Amino acid sequence: MKHVKRNILLNPGPATTTDTVKNAMVVPDICPRELEFGELTLSVRNDLVKAAYGEKNHTCVMLTSSGTGGVEACLTSVIPHDKKVLILNNGAYGERMQKICVAYGIQHIPYIAEWGKALDVGSIEQVLDIHQDEISHIAFIHHETTVGILNPLSEISALAQKYNVEIIVDAMSSFAGMMIDVEKDNIHYLVSSSNKCIQGMAWISFVIANLQSLLKTKEIKPRNFYFNLLENHLYLEKNKQFLFTPPVQTLYALRQAITEYFAEGPENRFARYASMYEIMKKKVRELGFEFLIDEKHHAKLLTAIIEPKSPAYSFNEMHDYLFERGFTIYPGKVGNKNTFRLSNIGDIYPADIESFLVVFEEYLRIKKII
Ligand SMILES: Cc1ncc(COP(=O)(O)O)c(C=O)c1O
Repeated sequence: MKHVKRNILLNPGPATTTDTVKNAMVVPDICPRELEFGELTLSVRNDLVKAAYGEKNHTCVMLTSSGTGGVEACLTSVIPHDKKVLILNNGAYGERMQKICVAYGIQHIPYIAEWGKALDVGSIEQVLDIHQDEISHIAFIHHETTVGILNPLSEISALAQKYNVEIIVDAMSSFAGMMIDVEKDNIHYLVSSSNKCIQGMAWISFVIANLQSLLKTKEIKPRNFYFNLLENHLYLEKNKQFLFTPPVQTLYALRQAITEYFAEGPENRFARYASMYEIMKKKVRELGFEFLIDEKHHAKLLTAIIEPKSPAYSFNEMHDYLFERGFTIYPGKVGNKNTFRLSNIGDIYPADIESFLVVFEEYLRIKKII
């Protein structure tokens, strides 16, 4: 097996992957219409459903795209023409859902909350109450990666049940990084991608869809083609093949990543991620930094940190210093607040975070920022 230089990615995905996942992509050329590839496709779909605890009522539709494609597929395929989707926007990815609806002329009601602040479920209920005859779906982000906030999935899901609407959950940066149970949380459509907490390579998005809900979308005159969720599903089911040319090698990597996910054990992965967050949070606080959002709303998968006021501080310079030493950090801006973001997902371990924090502190001291 080829050993590849290991970089510690603290950006929120694509995340650091194992050598075995990287090497899984080196396979003999294969036509994706071959039976062997079909079996691989089916096993990946089944295991993604299993990872979401959806074996009873859900199916998995895989698409060749980055994560946004999966979100676009849902929004453009499942909202009836005479209904509206309520979009909860408390970050860039909620805003992106709105932009998709605007681009396709999908009727929607934006619920815009201050970025970085927790969603107020009571006031969301008021909107639902007023518009209950119009709304068929609520779409929102589980872990809003812009700021690292965890939105209240169970509460929103309970509201949705009360008002008899379906939910579309963008769990791009939380699926396989924390407990999500599509059955318990009554999630109709959950979207994620291959290159975040599942620890595969980029370019497969997937929708874990409630089969009954998905089949009902047959009644909706399509507004899309490549991203039609039902058409992609029917083809996958009938032929065990992607409707369009898949990213062949990425699927082999995803197969390996899923195998490693179950070998590690979901609970162990969640605990590993959470422990890295705790180490990072403690040290960052000791160094005198402030967090952008209230700690009680942290998703514990990414931390947005307010930039220091020191004139010696430059994000780019700090980034480059860390990058040269094998650590990649991520910028972030919310309103007038500049932040930098440290993510703790991927094939990284508490010892990597400890090593990062040593270099981070070293830089801050050399520059006299602390
Ligand atoms: C919550 C969320 N939604 C959507 C996306 C978009 O994914 P992509 O860049 O793969 O299209 C991201 C990317 O980080 C994300 O974090």
